[in-house]
Amino acid sequence: MSESPPLDRPRSVLFVCLGNICRSPLAEGVFLHLARERGATARYRVDSAGTGAWHVGEPPDPRSAEVAQRHGLRLEGSARQVRSEDLKEFDLILAMDSENLRAMEHLGAGRTIAANIALLRDYDPNSDGDRDVPDPYYGGTDGFERVFHLIRRSCAALLNVLEERPSAGDTSDRRSS
Ligand code: 4NP
Repeated sequence: MSESPPLDRPRSVLFVCLGNICRSPLAEGVFLHLARERGATARYRVDSAGTGAWHVGEPPDPRSAEVAQRHGLRLEGSARQVRSEDLKEFDLILAMDSENLRAMEHLGAGRTIAANIALLRDYDPNSDGDRDVPDPYYGGTDGFERVFHLIRRSCAALLNVLEERPSAGDTSDRRSS
């Protein structure tokens, strides 16, 4: 498929979890994969980060890499911790769970920030009111499979919104002053 021309500025999306080794690298990889299928990669800058620093520099957890591979995609990159500049540099920051969301809101408190901060599952059409992508780290492989599906359908819906409306993703106006 040929790539559509980029917008003036690619929209930037940062996926955030706790360790940046399980959920957010999966979300980053899935989002990129879905964008590639739509010929839309040139319109996005995508990254992931963790609110904690324990795994900085490590590759994605092998269980996340495995589930990704089972579904035909490869995860890249190594873990990094979120930094306050992320709040200026990204248009949209998507937290995996409410704890990660709170941590990002705390990081942005009292600053002028550019990013809209939301939960990834705010975009999940089948969330049934459950807003978190659960942390699979201490569980088994089926937890990773379940997380993959939650992430995939949320990212697909997110891309629908972003591709339909050029300034979409601006789901809220949570700018601190
Ligand atoms: P993630 O999963 O936030 O999805 O990357 C975790 C990774 C590591 C830890 C917890 C959750 N940990 O406690 O080290």
